[in-house]
Amino acid sequence: MNHIRSDIEAVEKNTALYDEKRFVSRVEAIDFIEFNVIDRIEGLLQTNHASAELAAWKEAAESVKRRLEAIDHALFQRLRADIRMGGCTGTTFKTLVEDYVRPDASGRRQQDGSGYDSLDLFINGLLLTQALPSETKSREPEMVYYQQTPARIIFELAEKAQLTEDDAFYDLGSGLGHVPILLNLLSGATAKGIEFEPAYCDYARACAADLNLPRVEFINADARAADYAAGTVFFMYTPFRGRILQDVLAKLRGESQSRRIRLFTYGPCTSHISEQSWLMRIDQHADYPYKLGVFSSR
Ligand SMILES: C[S@@+](CC[C@H](N)C(=O)[O-])C[C@H]1O[C@@H](n2cnc3c(N)ncnc32)[C@H](O)[C@@H]1O
Repeated sequence: MNHIRSDIEAVEKNTALYDEKRFVSRVEAIDFIEFNVIDRIEGLLQTNHASAELAAWKEAAESVKRRLEAIDHALFQRLRADIRMGGCTGTTFKTLVEDYVRPDASGRRQQDGSGYDSLDLFINGLLLTQALPSETKSREPEMVYYQQTPARIIFELAEKAQLTEDDAFYDLGSGLGHVPILLNLLSGATAKGIEFEPAYCDYARACAADLNLPRVEFINADARAADYAAGTVFFMYTPFRGRILQDVLAKLRGESQSRRIRLFTYGPCTSHISEQSWLMRIDQHADYPYKLGVFSSR
């Protein structure tokens, strides 16, 4: 029981955690309180250790957790208001985010087992304000389920794509909309998402509308049937495989007859796209699916 009390007090007295800028330390502290303290108390409460003292410690732990979460809540509300007013885009947005989730000296952030890191937690806090939607349509077997691109890859994409006013960016299979929204915030360019699942598309539209981003658009369509007439830069985080991927690549090849297009890829689709004779590979990561693939039409 004593270590429970000292664990709670250690977090409570760590004043650095109440500094808004210490987002990553706060994430770790909230996890610690949730999994090492509250879960442990609940385990004890279930195994005959029910006591008023334990219940009081549980309440104290929940109260510390709520105080820490309130700091992040206020931070994201303020940041969303700044974005809405047009005061937080381009370098200002990038610098601000990096200020809260700074990589270590080697340029890396600690990743969890699935390859996401504290930058994803920050972006999720900023963009995922509503309950996550469930799928309403059944996917064909070659359509890949929703999984978000790690935010560091989206930032790298914005850096490498260097979009200008003349570009129109498309995310094929845009899910909850993070890629077009962040690309627009980081570059100011027109950014569109094509998404098969209506509930995801609605969610992404509501997010872009809430942030007052008129140059971000989400289109509920099958990528095989979408109109890419103005597109210059495309991104795919392996949204589909097999025949669907071949059909969409044939469509993009058609678009490349009238203008140069660039294609950025992530995940297993990269190796298939490397085999396209109409595309030149312009990055160095041959055969490494979980790096950003960069291609340009010839
Ligand atoms: C791996 S997720 C990528 C999500 C998004 N690009 C991101 O990184 O946040 C693949 C997405 O593609 C969508 N999708 C699958 N097949 C599709 C198709 N034929 N046309 C449009 N979207 C499709 C899925 O519904 C899913 O949201």
